[in-house]
Amino acid sequence: MKIVFATNNHNKIAEIKDLLPCEIQILSLKEINCNNELPETQNTLEGNAVQKAEFVFTNYGYNCFADDTGLEIEGLNNEPGVYSARYAGVHCSPEENMQKALQKLEGKNNRKAKFRTVIALIMDGKILLFEGECKGEITKEKAGEKGFGYDPIFRPSGFDKTFAQMSKSEKGVISHRGIATRKLVEFLQES
Ligand code: IMP
Repeated sequence: MKIVFATNNHNKIAEIKDLLPCEIQILSLKEINCNNELPETQNTLEGNAVQKAEFVFTNYGYNCFADDTGLEIEGLNNEPGVYSARYAGVHCSPEENMQKALQKLEGKNNRKAKFRTVIALIMDGKILLFEGECKGEITKEKAGEKGFGYDPIFRPSGFDKTFAQMSKSEKGVISHRGIATRKLVEFLQES
C-alpha cells in the first residue's frame, strides 16, 4: 500500500516510517513531485487537516493523510489554537509566540492548556479523522532546551518537567501527536 503524508517535515515522515510495517510505503510530497504550498485556510484543526489531505488526493490521486496541531490555553479562550504557528505574527519565531502567551497569562490563575493533533486520512475518497491530546499547564517561565515550538513552557499533567526537558521518546509516549499517530498506524495495519 502506498500512501502520501502531506507534509514537508522530514522528522514527521521519519517518525511514522519507524512505526509502520514495510508493506505500507509512506511517500513524501517531494516523492510525488508536489511542490505546491498546501492550502491551510480553515479555522479549525480538523478543517486544515482535511483541506491538505484533500488537496493531494484530488490533484495527485494518492491516498493521503495530513496533520494539524494547536495549543489550546483555557484562560485565553483556547488561544492560540489553530493559529499556534503564527500567534505573534505571520513570520514570528517560537520565542515570540511563547512570550505572547506568557504575557497574556500574566495575573491569571488558570494556566491549564492542552495540545491537540488531528490527522485526516483520505482512503479511496473516504475521510477518517484521528485525534490525540495532551493536557497540562503553561509554566510561568521557560525551562528546557529540547523539542520545538511551545515545548519550553508546556508541562504535561503528572510530570514535574516541561516537554523541552524530555527526551524525544519520553515525549512521544504521552504527546498529542504520538497518540494520534498510533491511532492512525493501528488503523492502517488493520486495513
Ligand atoms: P503543526 O500543525 O504540526 O505544524 O503545528 C503548528 C504549530 O503548533 C507549530 O508551529 C508549533 O508552534 C506548535 N506545535 C505543534 N506541535 C508542538 C509540540 O509538540 N510542541 C510544541 N509546539 C508544538
